[in-house]
Amino acid sequence: PHARVTLHPDFRVGTVDRRLFGSFVEHLGRAVYTGIYEPGHPTADEHGFRRDVADLTHELGVTILRYPGGNFVSNYRWEDGVGPARDRKPFLDLAWRTVEPNLVGTDEFLQWAEREGVEPMMAVNLGTRGVEAAAALVEYCNGEAGTRWADLRIANGRTEPYGVRLWCLGNEMDGPWQIGHKDAHEYGKLAAEAGKAMKLVDPAISLVVCGSSAMDMPTFGEWEQTVLSYTYDLVDHISMHAYYEEHDGDRASFLGSGTGMDRFIRRVVASADAVAARRRSDKQITVSFDEWNVWYLDSRFPGESNLPIQRDAPRIIEDVYSGLDAVVVGDLLVTLLNHADRVPVACLAQLVNVIAPIMTEPGGEAWRQPTFHPFATTARLARGEALDLRVEAPSYATARHGDVPLVTAAATVDDDGALAVFLTNRGDEVVEVEVAHAGAVVTLEQGRQMLADREPAVAGPEHAAKVQRECWSTVDVARAVTPGSGGSTTIRLAPESW
Ligand code: AHR
Repeated sequence: PHARVTLHPDFRVGTVDRRLFGSFVEHLGRAVYTGIYEPGHPTADEHGFRRDVADLTHELGVTILRYPGGNFVSNYRWEDGVGPARDRKPFLDLAWRTVEPNLVGTDEFLQWAEREGVEPMMAVNLGTRGVEAAAALVEYCNGEAGTRWADLRIANGRTEPYGVRLWCLGNEMDGPWQIGHKDAHEYGKLAAEAGKAMKLVDPAISLVVCGSSAMDMPTFGEWEQTVLSYTYDLVDHISMHAYYEEHDGDRASFLGSGTGMDRFIRRVVASADAVAARRRSDKQITVSFDEWNVWYLDSRFPGESNLPIQRDAPRIIEDVYSGLDAVVVGDLLVTLLNHADRVPVACLAQLVNVIAPIMTEPGGEAWRQPTFHPFATTARLARGEALDLRVEAPSYATARHGDVPLVTAAATVDDDGALAVFLTNRGDEVVEVEVAHAGAVVTLEQGRQMLADREPAVAGPEHAAKVQRECWSTVDVARAVTPGSGGSTTIRLAPESW
């Protein structure tokens, strides 16, 4: 098969916001304890945070981190997690039916993020709590000395406000599993009032209102419009969450996941714009895609009430990824780049151990899962402006997403004119892709590719290293391409590759 991608550096989608390369740390399983934080680990710093995990976080290129949840936040009393750790009590987290040791809280996380140069994105509890606790948390984080909650922060040892800019108004409030789940009207009203109070504390913050927790929720669409009808003038972003997996060996649909994500984004944007139209508003709501990843949810969902309560940072949702999963992650990033104008924020869920690109062993090593590589490469190379491409490619039929293109593409150009092109071949044959670069001087540098594998993924660093060796490789650009100006470059894409 053949495909043709046409690009021109003047035809642009929009600026690639660096926050597109975010991730997520929830109090869930081993994301915090033995993930980012493990006092006594050979690489732990004086605050108890693992240096090896922080270094991999930098290598991954993560720009923002969402915290503390997720489902966890909907039953979290943030006040219980500040002050001297020795005075804090462990508590039962109902979201994951786990005993939370309560050693890491708002201050520990925010100070770690600050030391590591990663922007925090905080979520407030709109499940079991409400307006007062949300406004108090903003004051605790961002307030100047002289009022109750800001003074508590100072008493806890932190004088300077943290200046947290981005705030989520709860998490997945449409989901019946959410502690304190609400219907769209209840949530819309609460989010509007909480958001109003939070902005009265700090008008500089930006707010994310909860969209649907998945496109297949029965309330999808209606939820977005109702919630935005209460919050349109107040919020900046609406959240999207999506997880993809290979169902019953349907590889073709799984490889087409990026098209599912593309349609989901278009529908949410259309819903938001419909609210704007009704209000005759020129304001444009953008998307915070604050949970996305491959997650084998069908087979491995924990937290059911018939499971015993777990303690000591249990191993839950520790999905092990293959080269195939990594190809899909790369392709999902292609989709996100193509919506750079409407999706400024996205978080790969999650960062470490829980459906994560980084894994650790308590007391032992930290390693990269296969999905680490396309993320790190895209975060490093996709800079500046996303280009508005024309992609002509055959399509193929899938059970889940209907007809999807065989080849997907995204491209960016930075201030220095450096062009990066991202391509996926979703089919099982080699595809010759002609990239026609009108108006662009193309000097080709090294290319990298991720190949899908067919072996089941095996837990542990050895298999991850094997996938890295066998599937993650340098593309031989010298033979495959012809540099030139205003010409075209032909690239042979291996079967099922990113
Ligand atoms: O990321 C894991 C969980 O998935 C989050 O806690 C929740 O928001 C979503 O359902």
